[in-house]
Amino acid sequence: MTGTSTQSTGAEQLRSRIAAELARTRARTALLTEAVDEADLVRQHSPLMSPLVWDLAHVGNQEELWLVRDVGGREPVRRDIDDLYDAFKQPRRDRPTLPLLPPQEARAYLLTVRGKVLDLLDRVAFTERPLVADGFAFGMIVQHEQQHDETMLATHQLRAGPAVLHAPPPPEPRVRVDAEVLVPAGEFTMGTDTDPWALDNERPAHRVRLPAYVIDAAPVTNGRYREFIADGGYDDPRWWSPDGWRHRREAELVAPMHWRRDGDGWACRRFGQWAPVRDDEPVVHVCFHEAQAYAAWAGKRLPTEAEWEKAARWDPATGRSRRYPWGDDDPTAEHANLGQRHLWPAPVGAYPAGASPLGVHQLIGDVWEWTSTPFRGHPGFTAFPYREYSEVFFGDEHRVLRGGSFGTDRAACRGTFRNWDFPIRRQIFSGFRCARDARPEEAQP
Ligand code: AVJ
Ligand code: FE
Repeated sequence: MTGTSTQSTGAEQLRSRIAAELARTRARTALLTEAVDEADLVRQHSPLMSPLVWDLAHVGNQEELWLVRDVGGREPVRRDIDDLYDAFKQPRRDRPTLPLLPPQEARAYLLTVRGKVLDLLDRVAFTERPLVADGFAFGMIVQHEQQHDETMLATHQLRAGPAVLHAPPPPEPRVRVDAEVLVPAGEFTMGTDTDPWALDNERPAHRVRLPAYVIDAAPVTNGRYREFIADGGYDDPRWWSPDGWRHRREAELVAPMHWRRDGDGWACRRFGQWAPVRDDEPVVHVCFHEAQAYAAWAGKRLPTEAEWEKAARWDPATGRSRRYPWGDDDPTAEHANLGQRHLWPAPVGAYPAGASPLGVHQLIGDVWEWTSTPFRGHPGFTAFPYREYSEVFFGDEHRVLRGGSFGTDRAACRGTFRNWDFPIRRQIFSGFRCARDARPEEAQP
């Protein structure tokens, strides 16, 4: 085979992979926006969230901006709506009052844009130009839509009324999981230069040296979290940071979001249905401050982002960093609870095939995990392709979350993927695990 035909075979494979990812993602968007009626699509279910119909047209508008106009160099489809769907020009609380495209127009707009994108995909040359090399811009747009799908899933969770989303429950535990795992001192590679669809904030790869530490082998469960509540954890300022305590008082936090007392125990609401809180599932819908207070109460702390990533990627046998805890292969249903296949986190021990070489479980999927690290660029960071994806959010006001939730698609989740939010947010599918410094006698090799 000549170099040229090998190259074109690679390009054809990339084209069909991109087409499949675009279609798979659009099916999820359709599911989330067809599950409710038109009145529900235009309503604001929480001041924290956009009306679903805003997310819908925003997804199409970003696809138009990056693929139709930038990659394709084609004429705008609807330049007149750019400002309406610019997340920086329109704060979420104002979005319901904007002259948004009604649902049927939004759907038609998405179809028009997608038609042009598929046409473009047939002809595009995946040159060295960074925006198109390895199909990056297409991958970025797939991830963007999947991220908004998870945001829309969080809107569904906040929505009042009977259940409209359905999925089978996650798998039952298959193994017993240890409490903690020791990660030995030493260097590892954090971030990536090689994952073609990794976003700017995951780059570049760089070496990080950590002292020995101990990390929980599983996310903190409802059962443990209930002990913190029962022990008066929400009423004891000793466990909370000054900011956390102020927020705990102002917001009158007493338990995770979506929980209510149920006799002697607790129940939680999941997409319109109340269920008893199950002790062996990871706790979800806690803010950073609650996670930090729990960790202090437990005599531990939150992991740093680097500690989380070393536990998730470092292979002690080779010294390499993997794409995922289980290796370099893309996630399957055996590895992790991802992609809205289930509508809540799986009990601890349900994903033995997804464990890291050191025996850390459920790092990917189930719940986003709060880390103690403020969101900043890796050393050598350069914004690409636009400052508004990551760079404008760098600073002390956001904390990093890692690992993805049951509502995160596999296209938008990997060992290097970084999410961030304000430390008071808990409408997202957020939980955590704890860590601690290794004691000198533990740290000995
Ligand atoms: C990475 C989830 C924090 O939803 O605000 C969507 C992703 N950026 N559109 C967000 C994003 C632009 C972002 N998070
Ligand atoms: Fe967006």
